[in-house]
Amino acid sequence: MKHIIAPSVLAADFANLQRDVEMVNFSLADWFHVDVMDGVFVPNISFGFPVMEAIKKYATKPLDVHLMIVNPDQYIERFAEAGAAVITVHYEACTHLHRTIQAIHAAGCKAGVALNPHTPVALLKDILADLDMVLIMSVNPGFGGQKFIPNTLNKLRELKAMALQLNPELIIEVDGGVGPHNLEALIEAGATAFVAGNAIFGAENPTEVIADMKNIKTGLLKI
Ligand code: DX5
Ligand code: ZN
Repeated sequence: MKHIIAPSVLAADFANLQRDVEMVNFSLADWFHVDVMDGVFVPNISFGFPVMEAIKKYATKPLDVHLMIVNPDQYIERFAEAGAAVITVHYEACTHLHRTIQAIHAAGCKAGVALNPHTPVALLKDILADLDMVLIMSVNPGFGGQKFIPNTLNKLRELKAMALQLNPELIIEVDGGVGPHNLEALIEAGATAFVAGNAIFGAENPTEVIADMKNIKTGLLKI
């Protein structure tokens, strides 16, 4: 399977959002990664529905919505209506995770669960078969431009092994400090979807960085 590249709009220029959305439209990227932060689950506030709807208005690719919020259940339908294709909630924010996943599917979206760096992959064993995606955070969520946490590679390997047993179609996404420099190692550890904010929008030529990330060749996968 060819891997998925999901530029994180958090690192875009919000004063030129349409321009940056169109850059992604015309690039080799697959998804838009949309980071929603509430200032409670994470120590930062990003944006909500009006900005997401503005992105949706111009985006020609699916919106991959990463909810870094408490009580995500109360907003699932709103995010689906606002144009989410994938809705990812945090394991740490959901008391009744199975119910939340059912609600995401009932709203017509693909369902993902995100794990903070300290949350073990093994906790997903009894929900893995119900998921479309797992997002492994490779930084503490809340901010773009942070340094990649190396233990993420061990978590990806463990998740890949679990997925082979329980859900071979599972998309394994990695988010935080990702870019051309570590993509190959992440692919070899089992990741199949890659979020990148600063590595793309901070580059002189974002389209070229996206193309490099999309076309990377690895020894293992022979893509
Ligand atoms: C962090 C967000 C990320 C962030 C990634 O909490 O979930 O999606 O935008 O940004 P970079 O790629 O700059 O680390
Ligand atoms: Zn994210």
